[in-house]
Amino acid sequence: MDKVINGKLLREEKLALFSEKIKSIPDKLKLVVIQVGENAASDVYVRNKRNVCERVGILFKHLKYDSITEDELVSVISGLNNDSSVTGILVQLPLPEGINTENVINSISPLKDVDGLTIKNVGALFSGKPRLVPCTALGVMSILDNIDANLEGSNVVVVGRSKLVGLPLVALLLRENATVTVCHSKTVNLKEKTSQADILIVAVGNKEFIKGDFVKKDAIVIDVGINRDSGKLYGDCAFDEVVGKCKYITPVPGGVGPLTITYLINNVIEAYHLQKKD
Ligand SMILES: NC(=O)c1ccc[n+]([C@@H]2O[C@H](COP(=O)([O-])OP(=O)(O)OC[C@H]3O[C@@H](n4cnc5c(N)ncnc54)[C@H](OP(=O)(O)O)[C@@H]3O)[C@@H](O)[C@H]2O)c1
Repeated sequence: MDKVINGKLLREEKLALFSEKIKSIPDKLKLVVIQVGENAASDVYVRNKRNVCERVGILFKHLKYDSITEDELVSVISGLNNDSSVTGILVQLPLPEGINTENVINSISPLKDVDGLTIKNVGALFSGKPRLVPCTALGVMSILDNIDANLEGSNVVVVGRSKLVGLPLVALLLRENATVTVCHSKTVNLKEKTSQADILIVAVGNKEFIKGDFVKKDAIVIDVGINRDSGKLYGDCAFDEVVGKCKYITPVPGGVGPLTITYLINNVIEAYHLQKKD
């Protein structure tokens, strides 16, 4: 196994597995992605989602609104919740100002919430009964599994506590009996914490924020960050400084990113099975 983890290779393995699962399902799966307003990054993310869905045989519908009120949006979602041909619903974030994101997300049926962000799915995860879990967190766990990271008893430091990445990772890592430390913008002496980590997971959104001396020798470093600067992508870790010290590292791009959309496919399949059980 190379020190620099190849997320694209793992994506291909996982997509092949998920494609087989989809072939064995008698119904056609369908994902609806809702986008509001203009956002160039969102356009790219939605296009990538469409491409992967089409590749594995999931129907993809993109509902794009230039402007829509919160009530109208909730009403669209209610229609999709009641439409048995729709397997998964995803609201592309961020939503424009003036729309309460939490209200909109929580109007999605928890059985169709393929981003795993509704309060019911977050609650299920933290009460030890995960159902639909945020894709990036699942992608990170699959990377750790693939390199046979020994989570039980390991000191894992997660930098970032967002609902999308840091928080769900904490729950998933605890389930594997890791000893988890969560750091955030108010953490005092971050370097002291990160340099104790056997496994360091960084999801901050700050270009090359984690320097070489933040990392313990032979640590596993998972860089979730995606930061754009002058048309180039950078992670949250200063790759060139960290790569010489660590045991494994995910590059940006090509590390965690490819696994995120892959696990969206996993979640559409999971959503189908949850709805069948209900
Ligand atoms: N690879 C992928 O597929 C993928 C998927 C999702 C996100 N991302 C990327 O991952 C990064 C994080 O995304 P997100 O959605 O989790 O972002 P977010 O919601 O903005 O959360 C950022 C987190 O970083 C913490 N933070 C900010 N400054 C810090 C500092 N100086 N020291 C320690 N912690 C600090 C914040 O702490 P507070 O809670 O105290 O504010 C917050 O918990 C972004 O670059 C995003 O683009 C990548």
